[in-house]
Amino acid sequence: MKYKGVIFDLDGVICFTDEYHYEAWKALADRLGIYFDKEINNRLRGVSRMASLEIILERSDVTYSQEEKEAFATEKNDNYREMLKNMSEKDLSDEVRDTLNELRNRGYLLAIGSSSKNTKTILNQIGLGNFFDAISDGTNITNSKPDPEVFLKAAEFINLKPEECVVVEDARSGAEAAYRGHFACAGIGEAAEYEHTDYPLNTFSDLLKVL
Ligand code: BG6
Ligand code: MG
Repeated sequence: MKYKGVIFDLDGVICFTDEYHYEAWKALADRLGIYFDKEINNRLRGVSRMASLEIILERSDVTYSQEEKEAFATEKNDNYREMLKNMSEKDLSDEVRDTLNELRNRGYLLAIGSSSKNTKTILNQIGLGNFFDAISDGTNITNSKPDPEVFLKAAEFINLKPEECVVVEDARSGAEAAYRGHFACAGIGEAAEYEHTDYPLNTFSDLLKVL
């Protein structure tokens, strides 16, 4: 086997929370009178909560204090977490479930590498709370993607070197993080277009052709 482990991004790879992020940021932006649309939301993929807020505030004429910014991030997150309660095992596709099970059968160590501090909540909601061998997420990093920290920690948690792992990503920032960390990268969507992506995938189950 060329690789021993697979590190998965969460949002946009295992499940889809983009729409909830959008709705929650949109509610905050509307309240503050700041223009926000799906194109701006797209720039938030893979980016930490506070960095996302900074991107939204680029359109604001007001300069907010750190305390106010933290309150805004909390407001968005509380709203977002309410929305996450709607998620269930139905939000895990058969394709993703079957592919994960097959990779496990083939003997790979499987980990999560996500910028989200809500990773464990989301995994529990979709029925994967106890599935992965390790979880590296927004709670154990200081630098968010495209910094490779979240993937380096994931590899460390499963006792593998970056060269022994494939990262699966959908965001450009995540594919860049994989490249900067010396990981091979399998990319879906915009990450499939990234120049350093090793394995562009049309669909998640294409992973079985690579691994
Ligand atoms: C990433 C999302 O998974 O998590 C980003 O792609 C999000 O859009 C980031 O900003 C942080 O999420 P959370 O749940 O910690 O606010
Ligand atoms: Mg993603």
